[in-house]
Amino acid sequence: MKTIITGGTVVSSEGECQADVLVDGERIVAVGLDLPRDGAEIVDASDAYVLPGGIDVHTHFQMPFGGTVSCERFDTGTKAAATGGTTMVVDFAMQAPGDALLKTYADWREMADGHVVVDYGLHMAVTDLTADTLAEIPLLVDEGVTSLKLFMAYKGAIMVDDATLLQTLQKGKACGALVCVHAENGDVIDVLIKEHLAAGKTAPRYHLTTRPPAAESEATRRAIMLAEIAEAPIYIVHVSCTRALDEIRAARDRGQAVYGETCPQYLALSVDDFDVPGFEGAKFICSPPLRDKSNWAGLWAGLRTGDLSTVASDHAAFNYAGQKEMGLTEGFHKVPNGCPGVEHRLLILHTLGVVGSEISMPKLVDVFSSAPARLFGLYPQKGVVAPGSDADVVVFDPSVEAVISAATQMQNIDYTPYEGMRVMGAVRTVLSRGEVVVSDGRWVGNEGSGRYVKAKPFVA
Ligand code: URP
Ligand code: ZN
Ligand code: ZN
Repeated sequence: MKTIITGGTVVSSEGECQADVLVDGERIVAVGLDLPRDGAEIVDASDAYVLPGGIDVHTHFQMPFGGTVSCERFDTGTKAAATGGTTMVVDFAMQAPGDALLKTYADWREMADGHVVVDYGLHMAVTDLTADTLAEIPLLVDEGVTSLKLFMAYKGAIMVDDATLLQTLQKGKACGALVCVHAENGDVIDVLIKEHLAAGKTAPRYHLTTRPPAAESEATRRAIMLAEIAEAPIYIVHVSCTRALDEIRAARDRGQAVYGETCPQYLALSVDDFDVPGFEGAKFICSPPLRDKSNWAGLWAGLRTGDLSTVASDHAAFNYAGQKEMGLTEGFHKVPNGCPGVEHRLLILHTLGVVGSEISMPKLVDVFSSAPARLFGLYPQKGVVAPGSDADVVVFDPSVEAVISAATQMQNIDYTPYEGMRVMGAVRTVLSRGEVVVSDGRWVGNEGSGRYVKAKPFVA
């Protein structure tokens, strides 16, 4: 079955041009003008951009956290992703204490396979490192899990120590796995939380003051130093503030292979969002926390210079009712951490980034799709509209005005932190491996049609 996407502006991380895109089966076979149309189904892309499908390398579907499980499932989450122009997610398999990594991998495959509606991959979050666990890492790489995640925060739960960090970096380097780090000083945060609770400071906004920028920049620097000792590359997830970015930039200027990710919430939301009645601030509790607006300009500059490589959602969805409310009696520290956003990454990047004159369309494509594909072993199968690549393609109309609202979202959660935000642009059509899965902005795909994609080992 052939499809031709006609009349649009094809955007890559290098530039943009008027071209049609011919798809045969699951792959793109040609990009150019005057392509033969014989019998191909036509997708109209006039007045629209034609983008490689987004790759969101930071999602937490069905994640156990803080005594609950994130409410976004693999089916609902990938539908929301597709509707928002994302055709591949890389989710975090979370090792439970005592579990083997291969068991964790198998558990996550079981949760996702047959349910996802776009392609997906997995990172492995290592929370309990032993000699046996270390020995499993090369086996994971064989299975296409070529990125590992370590948490330097969440003391008493999933936080790891520096020895674990160093040994995982060394092992990752030896077998082509990129180590990703949640960089916040968990010991310091633990002390600050206890001090706040002792002083009766339990409201959601105190989440902010227990996790200051210095706790993030200190951990970022420490992680980078350990990566230097291990001579390993490192990827810092969800960079929220310029203080942490400064550490990444300094390391990159020294020539170290350090990569940074930020998220829409750190570009669009701020501490001011906690100025809401009652316990509603819990909707904005994520870690690292939202920062002062003065950080926004620096994060955009980091994306422009490449010191930040990617924008991922860190989609960690917990309903306000019954989940975020778990902190109502005892305080902010009992609120499960995370915000939803897998559906709105493109809209926010386009509105604040491109319309807001912070980044160009090619840069949007880079941070939204191409750079994540390159860093996580998926390029050029994913992350580019080019002959031979998977036909994961988004037709994006930049001229439509819309308002983000929980009432109209696909995400399986009872709120959005972007409620009422005016955005420019709309996802018109999405192809996932050649199948039209979104048409006129609506999900039209088949249940369970996504596949697990093996990532290639990391290459700097
Ligand atoms: O608050 C967040 N980000 N929750 C999800 C888990 C993590 O730290 O990435
Ligand atoms: Zn994190
Ligand atoms: Zn996360």
